[in-house]
Amino acid sequence: MSENQESLAKLGHENRLFPPSAEFIAQANAQASMYDEAEKDRLAFWEKQAHELQWDAPWTTVLDWKVPFAKWFVGGKINASVNALDRHVAQGRGDRVAFFFEGEPGDTRTITYAQLLTEVKKTANALTELGIKDGDRVAIYMPMIPEAAIAMLACARIGAPHSVVFGGFSADALLSRIQDADAKLVITADGGYRKGAPFALKPAVDDALKGKTNVKNVLVVKRTGQETHWDSNKDVWWHDIVDRQSTEHVAQSFDSEHPLFILYTSGTTAKPKGISHTTGGYLTQVAYTHKMVFDIKPETDVYWCTADVGWVTGHSYVVYGPLINGATQVMYEGTPDTPHKGRIFELIAKYKVSILYTAPTLIRTWMKWGDEFPNAHNLKSLRLLGSVGEPINPEAWMWYREVIGGDRCPIVDTWWQTETGAIMISPLPGVTHTKPGSAMRPLPGISGKVVDDNGKEVGLGHGGYLILDKPWPSMLRGIWGEEERYKETYWSRFDGVYFAGDGAKIDTDAAIWLLGRVDDVMNVSGHRISTTEVESALVSHAAVAEAAVVGAADEMTGQGIVAFVILRGGIPNVCGEELIKELRAHVAKEIGAIAKPRQIVVVQELPKTRSGKIMRRLLKDVAENRAVGDSTTLADPNVMALISQGLSTAKDED
Ligand code: WTA
Repeated sequence: MSENQESLAKLGHENRLFPPSAEFIAQANAQASMYDEAEKDRLAFWEKQAHELQWDAPWTTVLDWKVPFAKWFVGGKINASVNALDRHVAQGRGDRVAFFFEGEPGDTRTITYAQLLTEVKKTANALTELGIKDGDRVAIYMPMIPEAAIAMLACARIGAPHSVVFGGFSADALLSRIQDADAKLVITADGGYRKGAPFALKPAVDDALKGKTNVKNVLVVKRTGQETHWDSNKDVWWHDIVDRQSTEHVAQSFDSEHPLFILYTSGTTAKPKGISHTTGGYLTQVAYTHKMVFDIKPETDVYWCTADVGWVTGHSYVVYGPLINGATQVMYEGTPDTPHKGRIFELIAKYKVSILYTAPTLIRTWMKWGDEFPNAHNLKSLRLLGSVGEPINPEAWMWYREVIGGDRCPIVDTWWQTETGAIMISPLPGVTHTKPGSAMRPLPGISGKVVDDNGKEVGLGHGGYLILDKPWPSMLRGIWGEEERYKETYWSRFDGVYFAGDGAKIDTDAAIWLLGRVDDVMNVSGHRISTTEVESALVSHAAVAEAAVVGAADEMTGQGIVAFVILRGGIPNVCGEELIKELRAHVAKEIGAIAKPRQIVVVQELPKTRSGKIMRRLLKDVAENRAVGDSTTLADPNVMALISQGLSTAKDED
């Protein structure tokens, strides 16, 4: 608990309070009465939210709960793609824009709900032609282009769970995810655009498929037109097979508990966890939260969530939530500084974006770049701002409010996880008085608490661990193929309640402040990476005997990865810089560029207790340039002095 207490001590007293404006209150979707309503009869409350969706058959039981296994809306039948698309077209909203797509090079596409439905139907037919049936897993490895959403919705339409793998992951990472889910098909693109240049994706798929898999086909979208290696036994161009399909496709109904997707996320071991989500409960909660937290008015709002579909935020708040609510969205392929640092602001002005949902790391980057970039564009269309992925520091929150939101937009700081599927803790705009840096309180229908080491609720003004003590509709149903790990990871720390892995403080007004992970999971630019994952990548390099990795506070990225390595006997650290470069590249190859350590320090020894446990807390002190804390339990008390002296750094240049 010591790191958590340190963060608690750092958290100053935040007294600023921002009540919603009268104007916002007058038009808000959410009402304060929802808290009481949900409190009185939680299941009736969720049932009411589920009725907002189109069901093909009603459920018989709202919740079947045998700790830790939940089934929601049992017996109900539903199709995710019908709820996202067909329903709008059938009700006369086919001409509404679903996506304003902007490619990084400046190419644009405007896609209406009717057009999106046609594309999804054709793609569903193509998947069927490729032999994909309900229950088959499909891996999706794509740039941020409309076909990524189309592929997901087509899978959902035919009941084939998708497993989206972020396009920044390496071939090795892709292979392990393909193998774990036993995917039959991979959907990818020749490449995409990033930082002003095309990058390739297909070669990583080719590399991955050199491993043993049951993948029969690779479906490839032509995005960049770059030279692409082709195996005509396996590879199929999207335009060759999708374009000639019928535009008719009658969606089947699936059980409420039919698996919708698997999404891999880092845990405390090297092996990522395949977080499994099902259909009815997930859709209910993403639609409800999207409507209430973002106050969406689908007829007039232009909504932009900047997340990639490779992360859960892209699943819940680009694909399923907004489309179910009939929202008009902006989708952008590239990086925020291409071709200039005002790109995002230029797009907000161009499309008159009214709701922006992004991550603290980007907000801090904008702060560093300077106010002149947002100030050069008309951002008056914005009326609500959201934040997700990591704690937002009060300073960044204030900047977001003042410079981006012109002091008039409420900010929703939304806490949730891949595992929770949808937002759990957040202000309700038009209801909640917000404090800079606090996610405030659990949403109506959600029960979360801050508890101490023994699982006892801490009093107001105290810190501890965040837990969720009642099941919620969009909760994970398990870890793919690993039932024991599911119980062990989430349900064993405190008996019968979900342990989120985050430290939190509840202040004297009962507002919740998230304090970051308390386990071995790092949060780098809002992306979860486990220390063990990076350590095992490092020791898989021939030069490394042992490695210890810590997440050190980083002004820009939240946390930065700092690795301490012991070289194998006989490997001289002569060409230090060279070797460190090589090790960083090696981690990028094993996991992906997002996991490259910011610093690698070659050491002679690692600080260990007498029982051989590495004391990461001490390494973190070094990495954060602090005086090293209590090291009396070290087997060799001199180790830390040596490590501190030997701190030589190789900074990330890319
Ligand atoms: C962190 C992203 C503070 C937290 C949706 C959580 C946050 C992990 C917030 C999940 C927030 C996410 N304030 N911390 N508003 N949102 N986190 O699975 O540590 O990629 O456990 O889901 O991100 O990350 P994941």
